[in-house]
Amino acid sequence: MQVALVGVTGYSGMVLYRLLKQHPEIDRIQLYGHVGATTVAAMYQKETAVIRPFDATAIMRDNAIVFFATSAGITRQLALPFIAAHFPVIDLSGDFRLHDPEQYQRWYQRDPASATALAQASYGLADMPAPLSTYIANPGCYATATLLGLAPLAQQQLVEPTSIVVDAKSGLSGAGKRATAASHYVAVNDNLSLYKLNQHQHIPEMMQQLQQWWSAISAIEFTTTLIPVTRGIMTTIYAKAKSALTTTQVRAAFTATYHEQPFVQVLPTGMPTLKDVVGSNNCALGVDYNPVTNTIVVVSVIDNLMKGAAGQAVQNFNRYFDFAVTAGLPTLPVFP
Ligand SMILES: NC(=O)c1ccc[n+]([C@@H]2O[C@H](COP(=O)([O-])OP(=O)(O)OC[C@H]3O[C@@H](n4cnc5c(N)ncnc54)[C@H](OP(=O)(O)O)[C@@H]3O)[C@@H](O)[C@H]2O)c1
Repeated sequence: MQVALVGVTGYSGMVLYRLLKQHPEIDRIQLYGHVGATTVAAMYQKETAVIRPFDATAIMRDNAIVFFATSAGITRQLALPFIAAHFPVIDLSGDFRLHDPEQYQRWYQRDPASATALAQASYGLADMPAPLSTYIANPGCYATATLLGLAPLAQQQLVEPTSIVVDAKSGLSGAGKRATAASHYVAVNDNLSLYKLNQHQHIPEMMQQLQQWWSAISAIEFTTTLIPVTRGIMTTIYAKAKSALTTTQVRAAFTATYHEQPFVQVLPTGMPTLKDVVGSNNCALGVDYNPVTNTIVVVSVIDNLMKGAAGQAVQNFNRYFDFAVTAGLPTLPVFP
């Protein structure tokens, strides 16, 4: 099979390229992007692949699917010919995750795609399988870690629905390759900084999904903190239990949800660390119930560029074409 990739020069695109190159069902990859962009040859010494100027007609003629690993605001325009032709797309950006165009306008401060175009996209939270349309909106990295940590609690209605607090932390590659004053070494090293308080653009996609699982969840408190690592997301989730439980009961709820998912590990004891997952497509979950405060605590960790982006995109590719679930995906972390 031949596939197309737009955005190989970005962080997610580079990781996706490596996964696609090693995928057993893929023979060739065509790369598209800005004319004059750094070639893959320059990034990976022995690669000779060329980046072609974006051409929707050529992509559809030559390939079985196109992956977009482009910045926010690009696919809402570039992807329209694929939607019109019902050609398969996996989009790593947030442009088609929200069904409501007004929500996109509010949280991304950009004009949205039309409601008709948005209606053709499906939200591809790959470890909670639901039917996929030809346009797959790959979830955001924070949203993936948080939703996998909340799914059993929401679906089994185990918590007070308005009591959910999420303290999410991410490494620097989550912000992409462009450096800013906030991502300067001096600002990040030996430091922690909380950003986009109550304004993070992943809040609406999490709410959209949570309300599908349990409409009583009307809001969550969600904070994001930049931590001085390259890769990795840890979300610590707190919620009041609806009735008294034990840690064993909470863990059983998680195991029941994920027992058939090869990439989700519910720890039998203790809490996960970033290095338990970095380099893999896994999400590791630790759970606890504190009877003193009647609080459930869930810790969810992922590699933002794997499960949070490129790995989940390949997982959705496998689902879409009915390939083996784990084809082309690393199940072991890089450690140490
Ligand atoms: N980083 C993460 O952990 C993460 C996780 C989940 C989802 N995402 C999403 O994935 C997307 C890419 O993120 P990233 O962090 O990899 O960003 P990035 O490092 O900034 O890369 C952005 C890519 O988009 C390309 N691009 C920008 N405008 C384009 C245009 N008009 N036509 C063609 N290509 C264009 C860039 O090409 P040039 O190099 O030529 O400018 C670059 O290849 C974003 O939408 C992001 O929200 C990222």
